Amino acid sequence: MYRDPVESLEPLHHRPAAIRTLRVGMIGIGTVGSGTFRVLVRNRADIAARAGRSIELVIVAARNLQRAAGILGEGVALTADAMQVATHPDVDVVVEVAGGTGPARDWVLAAIAHGKHVVTANKALLAVHGAEVFAAAREKGVIVAYEGAVAVSIPIIKALREGLAANRIEWVAGIINGTTNFILSKMRDEGLDFAAALAQAQALGYAEADPTFDIEGIDAAHKLTLLAANAFGMPLRFADAQVEGITALQGVDVACAEQLGYRIKLLGVARRQAAGVELRVQPVLVPVTHLMAQVNGSMNAVMVKSDAAGLTMYYGAGAGSEQTASAVIADLVDVARLDGVHAARHVPHLGVHAHATNALAVVPRAAVHTSHYLRVPVHAVGQIQAVAACLAERKVPVRQVALAAERPGAGPQVLVLTGPVEQGALDLAVHALQARAEVAGAVAMLRVESLEG
Ligand code: HSE
Repeated sequence: MYRDPVESLEPLHHRPAAIRTLRVGMIGIGTVGSGTFRVLVRNRADIAARAGRSIELVIVAARNLQRAAGILGEGVALTADAMQVATHPDVDVVVEVAGGTGPARDWVLAAIAHGKHVVTANKALLAVHGAEVFAAAREKGVIVAYEGAVAVSIPIIKALREGLAANRIEWVAGIINGTTNFILSKMRDEGLDFAAALAQAQALGYAEADPTFDIEGIDAAHKLTLLAANAFGMPLRFADAQVEGITALQGVDVACAEQLGYRIKLLGVARRQAAGVELRVQPVLVPVTHLMAQVNGSMNAVMVKSDAAGLTMYYGAGAGSEQTASAVIADLVDVARLDGVHAARHVPHLGVHAHATNALAVVPRAAVHTSHYLRVPVHAVGQIQAVAACLAERKVPVRQVALAAERPGAGPQVLVLTGPVEQGALDLAVHALQARAEVAGAVAMLRVESLEG
């Protein structure tokens, strides 16, 4: 007979906290912190009505106290010492929105050790140190909530962990970095160059403190790591992810993809297959008619394929001050509702209870099976058949071959769309193709994702 583990536990202590104000300490008052303060103040009554109690910011740690005082005005204590917030006796929950994986780890672990719940938008911290943070939180019976860490305004963690809890999830794929999607959109739609588009994304507060994290795909990989853990009940495997950003992407491939009816997007993909889970971030071609191709600017979108619900898609702002605040405060409302409830009744940090974690392996790059786009520079247009024949000889399924539209100063280019093929086999075929006398330059290769049910 099923025995509820909670029934056998000690009776709950219903802390008086369940009815009094939830007292928040916040570390960081930059883009996300200031947005969180503004929304907390502006929507105070609605938030309290939903949480069942008021939520008050009582202390903030900031590097620049003068600037922070200008944002917060009277009524919120200020300190330059983040550890003071993490351990403050009057704080019930610590909001960590400072970012980074060094001191932020210490602050979060200290807050947990002092029995405080934690809300964070710090995807790097959780992707890298999440196992340690969540283990410490389990030990102390506190919540660590992080909706703002992934695709900010989209409640995708809640969707995976709660809304889709009935399902076996097959794959999750999405545009999960606002900065790179903004850059790609600006370059395509307004002809901006890469540096100018990045500068705009930084000015709008979309980019990470170190924008390399955005443009090299690292930020998207942090988020994908969290999505995969919640989708598949697997551990956080950031170190095993295949990560490629948009810095090596060439404008000619953006144009050639459009010629073939595709748009290039930086996509994070976590797909379950027989040998484990694919965990990869890379620029890929998606059909131009697909909804994912219509996601522009700093917007994000995530698709989930699951067995019962089928294909679902979630769309919303992927970066921004109040957009992230929306998720941070939703987490605070969850904490306000659950504070005082026995930890065994909390939603597990990564969707499944720790003892039921599925130790799935991440499959190596060579074993990933997708369709591909190739661009092969040749010496003469007549060599198109030689390219197709070379690939077919090596058992690469060739679905379409075309010549790229002529462009000034560029020689002829053969464009190939393959059917699904294992990466390892394709790498060997491209290596052979590259050595052929007909081939006049480096072969470009990108994955194609149909994102179909
Ligand atoms: N730099 C991140 C992005 C911020 O551009 O998506 C939101 O996580």
